[in-house]
Amino acid sequence: MNEIVGGIATSHVPSIGAAIDNGKTGQPYWKPLFDGYKKARQWMSETKPDVVIIIYNDHASEFSLELIPTFVIGVSDMFMPSDEGYGPREIPNIEGHPELAWHLAESLILQEFDMTIANEMTVDHGLSVPLSIMYDQPKEWPCKVIPICVNVIQYPPPTGLRCYKLGRAIRVAIDTFDSNEKIAVIGTGGMSHQLQGERAGIINREFDISFLDRISNQPEELTKIHHHDYIMQAGSEGVELVMWLVMRGVLEKKVREIYRHYHVPASNTAAGLIILEDDE
Ligand code: DHB
Ligand code: FE
Repeated sequence: MNEIVGGIATSHVPSIGAAIDNGKTGQPYWKPLFDGYKKARQWMSETKPDVVIIIYNDHASEFSLELIPTFVIGVSDMFMPSDEGYGPREIPNIEGHPELAWHLAESLILQEFDMTIANEMTVDHGLSVPLSIMYDQPKEWPCKVIPICVNVIQYPPPTGLRCYKLGRAIRVAIDTFDSNEKIAVIGTGGMSHQLQGERAGIINREFDISFLDRISNQPEELTKIHHHDYIMQAGSEGVELVMWLVMRGVLEKKVREIYRHYHVPASNTAAGLIILEDDE
């Protein structure tokens, strides 16, 4: 029987990855952020997931405005980092888990989530930065990864409720996969931020803290937040938070909050991280 060790949600700011890659995590700007990641890394090294399912968004790196799939699952045995304009990040390639990924694809499609299946795709900072946050700079990533990519770039993205339901369906799929692996789920993106336009730089601490407070025990309330409200309250890129609801959907109704970290700013973003475990 496989085991779900927990769910993590974390921001995926590209410059957090660059700070790690370029040895800047001890600098005054970055130290308070990275000090807060120590406990998350410790949780990761204690729970040791064999597989991590990462719910993230592509930022016009692999996909473009020519092709905008709402939900994509990567079924490949290897994923390379995307070239986001300055060469791919020098990080280990990311090993996939085709057997579980195909099981997820089949189960999700039979549960009426019309996933796009990617036999080949690169993965950008939306996926690679959370890996670096949780594992730092290993020679090889210590887990297999299944990428699930959500469109939050081009309107209309899926609703928070749809994302939560996708998480519930992922749980059904995991529970019907016969293996002895330990599985973690990471939802990435957020928290409040806007990268362009008149409101670029907006941060809404009150909204973010309320989101962190409610994700454990009132996720249904969060599923009612409309895209328009995300944008008004948390900035245009704040809508990335719907991916946290996929992660939350995978977990049981009752969860325990294991750890949280909130730091402003990381680049233009309010960087949040939360770790939840099923409350058995
Ligand atoms: C930033 C944050 C993001 O989520 C992203 O995808 C790109 C940039 C930022 O704050 O710089
Ligand atoms: Fe982003």
